[in-house]
Amino acid sequence: MKTVEEVRNDIPLTKKYIYADNGATTPVPKPVVAAMDEYFLDYCSNVKRGTYSIAQKASLEWENARKKISEILLKCSPEELIFTRNCTEGAAIVSYALEHSLFNDGKENEPVIKWENHDRIVSTIMEHHSNFMTWLRVAQHLNLGFDVVKPKKDCKLTPELFEIDEKTNFVSFQHVSNAVGTVHDVKEIIKTIKEKNLKCLVFVDGSQGPGHMPVNVKDLGCDFYSFSGHKGPLGPQGTGGLYVKKELIEKMEPMILGGGIISDVSENGYRLADTYSKRFDAGTPNIAGMIGLGRAAEYVNEIGLENIEKREKKLGRILLDGLKEMKDVEIYGSDDDRGTVTFNIKGWRSHDVSLALDEKNILTRAGHHCCIPLMKFLGIHEKYGGNVRVSFHYYNTEEEVKKIIEAIGELV
Ligand SMILES: Cc1ncc(COP(=O)(O)O)c(C=O)c1O
Repeated sequence: MKTVEEVRNDIPLTKKYIYADNGATTPVPKPVVAAMDEYFLDYCSNVKRGTYSIAQKASLEWENARKKISEILLKCSPEELIFTRNCTEGAAIVSYALEHSLFNDGKENEPVIKWENHDRIVSTIMEHHSNFMTWLRVAQHLNLGFDVVKPKKDCKLTPELFEIDEKTNFVSFQHVSNAVGTVHDVKEIIKTIKEKNLKCLVFVDGSQGPGHMPVNVKDLGCDFYSFSGHKGPLGPQGTGGLYVKKELIEKMEPMILGGGIISDVSENGYRLADTYSKRFDAGTPNIAGMIGLGRAAEYVNEIGLENIEKREKKLGRILLDGLKEMKDVEIYGSDDDRGTVTFNIKGWRSHDVSLALDEKNILTRAGHHCCIPLMKFLGIHEKYGGNVRVSFHYYNTEEEVKKIIEAIGELV
């Protein structure tokens, strides 16, 4: 296990600021930067095609990264992990495959979902725009119904909120809310959805999940799980991943065609690579980034994913309890222990609070957090311009939380 002090030493930024904007992206620890430096300085070359030694090393390290990321962060096999730029791209890849049947070897295959009249897609009001607009567009393109689940005031998604019938073929919802911090019981929700309609496919937006906590996609029972490499896992920006169940990835049409994803091409057609996850690697990938994310997966594993989850919850609890004492502070989401806490101060615009905290070197984020439907639902879009978010990671300290509480107290 790595101590908090060791991790803080690996992230020099933590010495200058109280970095509490981990929900947006995280600083990258030195060993992860070192892994990327090593690639750039010692064996920089393209992957998949080279025969010379450093090109082979680059290919090997890049593939090793897929193994580490899938096994540590998601507990799936490397063949089920598609490399992406971010969580958003994972949703885009799935949405493309929902609108286009696989075309391979000159033949059109069975679609992932055989859409029929009056079929529906279900999403929730809690979603980040990337996990909302993406499915709204599919519904509008294909003339499907689009139902939006609305939680109670605690902003917790629970199984009974999801109305599923035989016409509900696709459901998408988040693991953790970036805008109010609630952590949903994904496993229980998926179990209930599948009990009501076994063939309904479920996409989970895990942008705020892996790296902050242990995640086992098989145990959750989802069909798709997309995540950001540059948040919980402490990987570099421009990285992420998409888990797709094996029997579905086989059926998916890649969104982009090009170099490195085929086994043969002729004037009359092409045959895609036999390894399914490789069908989504067209073009020169973010080699250094993925090698960095592989190292980052090892790094959070060295800290211990349970330790990260426990510590973030503890810090969040202290902040929640501190804020609850303040008369003019509104807190959003449930009262459960969690690493992300959002609030407003009556009479203040959320951005002004964040700017005032910045003057004390406390880095938070304010606004709608790309969740305008949720902000409107909570009645805080116009009133406060969203809310203020404090989002922790393992390297934040109790001392920092006390300073945050003090600073908010002074503003109040
Ligand atoms: C819940 C949630 N979903 C999706 C996204 C989009 O993630 P990315 O920026 O990695 O595409 C975010 C980013 O903040 C998020 O918090």
